[in-house]
This record gives sequence, C-alpha cells and structure tokens, in this order.
Amino acid sequence: MMTTPPSDVSVAVRRNWDERARRWLDYDDDMERFAAPLGELALERLGPCEGARIIEVGCGTGGCLHTLAQRVGDTGRVTGVDIAAPMVEHARRSVANRANVEVLHADASTHRFEPEHDAVFSRFGMMFFPHPESAFRNIARALRPGGKIAFVCWDGIRTNEWFMITGLAAMSVTRAPLAPARRAPFSLSNPERLRELLAQAGFHSVHVARRVEKTVMSEEDLETRLKSSLEVTGLRETLRGLPQDVRRRAVDAVREALWARVSDGRIALRVGVLVAEATR
Ligand SMILES: C[S@@+](CC[C@H](N)C(=O)[O-])C[C@H]1O[C@@H](n2cnc3c(N)ncnc32)[C@H](O)[C@@H]1O
Repeated sequence: MMTTPPSDVSVAVRRNWDERARRWLDYDDDMERFAAPLGELALERLGPCEGARIIEVGCGTGGCLHTLAQRVGDTGRVTGVDIAAPMVEHARRSVANRANVEVLHADASTHRFEPEHDAVFSRFGMMFFPHPESAFRNIARALRPGGKIAFVCWDGIRTNEWFMITGLAAMSVTRAPLAPARRAPFSLSNPERLRELLAQAGFHSVHVARRVEKTVMSEEDLETRLKSSLEVTGLRETLRGLPQDVRRRAVDAVREALWARVSDGRIALRVGVLVAEATR
C-alpha cells in the first residue's frame, strides 16, 4: 500500500487528525451508528456502481468502504484515503479480506490520484481542507470525464440541534467564543459557496440539496455520545484548557440541557446536512 510524502500544510493537519483519531477509535461504533443514515443520503446519489473505480475521501475507520465494496462488486475497485494513521490502520484491518479495497494513508487534497476513477464519495470527509479550492480541483482530477462526485457534509451550525444545545449550554458557563476547531466541520455549510467550489474545480451538473434529518438516541446512547463529544469531537475543543471547576460546571450545564430534551427514555434531535453531487 502506498503512502504520499506529506506537504508542510498536511503535516499540521495530519498531526491534528492523528491525535484525534486515536481517541475516535474508542467510540467508533457510536460514530458509525450516528453517521450511517446520513452517509446513505450521499451513497444514494452515486447511482449504479457495478464495476466502478471509486475513491472515498476521508474514509476514517472504513465504515463506508464495506458498502462501497459490495456496490462495485468483484469487477470494481474502492480506494479509501485518509490522512490519519490510526484511522488508516483500523480501516485496513477492517477490509483485510476484501480483495477489491485498498486504503491509502494520504492527504486527499494533494495526493496525485490516477485520473481514471469513475466516482468519488465522502461522508463528512470534505470539510477539513485548509485550502478547499485547490483540494477540490485535485479531487476532480482523480475522475475521468463524466465521473461523478457525491458527498455529505454538515449544513449550518443553527440547523444542528446537537451542536446548538451542547454548544450554547457550554458557552453559557465558559463565556468563551467558539473555538475555530468547532467551526471546521461547518466550513462547507453555505450551499452557494459549495456550488461555486465544485464549479471552479471543473464540475458541471452541480446539485446541492439541504436535508434535515432526525437522529434518535436512547438515554444510554446519549451518554455515550456525550462522552465521545467530550473526548473526541466538538465539546473537547470548547472546553480544552479551561480550569477544572469551569469545565465541570460546563459539562453539568450540557448534561442538563440535553436531558431536558429526553422524553420516554429517548431524545430526538434535528441535524441539517448538505448532500452534494456533480459530474466531471
Ligand atoms: C469527521 S471524520 C469522518 C470519517 C468517516 N468518513 C466517517 O464518516 O466515519 C473526517 C475524516 O477525514 C479525514 N481527513 C481530514 N482531512 C483529510 C485530508 N486532507 N485527506 C484525507 N483525509 C482527511 C480525517 O482523518 C477523518 O478520518
């Protein structure tokens, strides 16, 4: 399996994701449960894939690689790409007995892909490029003319009830502005801008759809999700470096705000996503 030498920018991005990925692995099942139905929205947009050569950008631990491998069949090929070594190692183990899948440890924004692929797919893996214009152009070059891209990313912060409830409750205690790392997942949330990015990268037939989905969790799942947010994703960044007592009060505030929404042992939250598709 090949590895590309890192550029200066990707060294920093890679370090950040390496560090986060190590903690992510403890919550992989929870992450997968949460993301799977949202990824389906983009998988549907790929259309028939039998025999296709597909790249998955930011494949993480490889949850979608299995679905893609089944869809392309024995005559197709799936290439997962991720910048974080722990993600790649996990994904490689997970697909070890699938002959039609490989996983590259590379920065998708700069890696020189063979320009022969039929499709690019991503589930929440396109929002973290420091230079999205050049990253999108690079990814477009991986596709043959007529090849298709389909991916799902987050819509705006305000469309995401998880973010709003947890973020506002935490900030009511910390009084601190939003950490940049908490904004990164929402970097593509302007549909107009996203259409422009895709068009500038050389895509046509660009379509970006807003979807509001509902995520439903049991109280037990909610506890796990809160832990994963505190240890891996958004809330970790919000509370990083704060004095212990402020942190504790902020976590209490988040817990109280979330549990106020629990009814009959369950919580249902709306999350907004954008489903983008385009043709090279
Ligand atoms: C939010 S996670 C999503 C992971 C997976 N697609 C999923 O849905 O479970 C984003 C992933 O993108 C990867 N990533 C971030 N920047 C990247 C880049 N420039 N090239 C390749 N992968 C990248 C991260 O390492 C991480 O695994």
